[in-house]
Amino acid sequence: MTAAAEEASGLTALARGLSAPKGFVEASLAAAAPGAIRLLGGIPAPEALPVDAIGAASARLWQDVGGALAGLQYSAAPGSAALRDWIASREGVDPRRIVVTNGGMHGLALAVLTVVERDATVAVDDPVFPGFLWALEVATTRLLPVPVAADGFDVEHLARRLAAGARIAAAYTVPDFHNPAQVSLSAAKRQALIALAERHGFYVIVDNPYRALRFAGRDQGAAVFNDSDRAIHVNTFTKTLGPGWRVGWLVLPEHLVDPVVRLRNRLDVHTSSVTQAILERLLTDDAGSFDRIVRGAVALYRERAGVLVDALREHLPGALDVVPPEGGLFLWPRLTDDAVDPAALFRRAAAHGVVYQPGEVFAAGPERRRSARHLRFAYSDRTPHELREAVRRLALAFEDV
Ligand SMILES: Cc1ncc(COP(=O)(O)O)c(C=O)c1O
Repeated sequence: MTAAAEEASGLTALARGLSAPKGFVEASLAAAAPGAIRLLGGIPAPEALPVDAIGAASARLWQDVGGALAGLQYSAAPGSAALRDWIASREGVDPRRIVVTNGGMHGLALAVLTVVERDATVAVDDPVFPGFLWALEVATTRLLPVPVAADGFDVEHLARRLAAGARIAAAYTVPDFHNPAQVSLSAAKRQALIALAERHGFYVIVDNPYRALRFAGRDQGAAVFNDSDRAIHVNTFTKTLGPGWRVGWLVLPEHLVDPVVRLRNRLDVHTSSVTQAILERLLTDDAGSFDRIVRGAVALYRERAGVLVDALREHLPGALDVVPPEGGLFLWPRLTDDAVDPAALFRRAAAHGVVYQPGEVFAAGPERRRSARHLRFAYSDRTPHELREAVRRLALAFEDV
């Protein structure tokens, strides 16, 4: 479109400037390979979703006429009091610092709109969750990519860039079971990142949807984020109770609560009262229910991750550098042989009936080679049988390239 045609389109500069979502393999490609085993999305296993418990919680809500009627009315912009209390006690913070959102992406968008000025620079994980780059487009596309190492976001790299004069409004990272890189940020680096933010006056947007899904290793802690005036801690029920809820939460520093609530009041008023009321019943009628649901899911993902790692080691010894994940939904193996062309491998794998996310789609900067040497396998919603079969098909693809 010419500039004149763009203006005549009647769209705002913001709407015109939004890209078609980049990153991630198109669903159409997966559909083009009928019978393909899809290792594409970090979505919960259907078996891990507590359908019966949700049904019972909903029934209890509708049997309680007062509660049901409250659920059909407007509610407070920061979220229902009972849900905020429940979240706050798990996060170890005052409930006034919790804002219930319409899922993780909404929380990220609110964070960006609140603390990232137009055209400011934002430091991001490299590789990065592409959804954050989409959320960021409402403000800026100026990125400072920061490598993600075996112990997470390279805080020293960012410190060197800042010392050399770089200025950022925010730094974005996924600290637990990184999407896509599967690693967790070490406790020491969590402290160092927050200290850097406090020294330089930027915000850390901490995106933590996988935090509850640990099946090995040691928790690296989240109190450091919740204790800082410079961290916006974003979470969601997507990976534990299902993406369809569209419910998540922000843990905000006190001084950001009012600005975020005012902003969300202009956008969506509040998260659905009915949805919050059902969640409230599910989470608070039986105090142990959430932990039981998560324990069941974690057992499933532990088994699936183990099956996938074992199958890769058995059928593709040496072809991929595989690190067993400690939690979350992803494996991020690296191609060990530089002669293997990842694009050719991807095409042959699809032809043999297995599709995954090629690493290149997660590159945050112009230097895409490092990410392109990786493959992202989401194992969460595939059965052990499907995972073994996927690896058998992948081994055929390796033979072809
Ligand atoms: C790192 C990360 N952040 C945020 C989200 C989005 O969560 P939600 O579906 O709650 O918007 C996802 C979902 O895949 C994710 O992987």
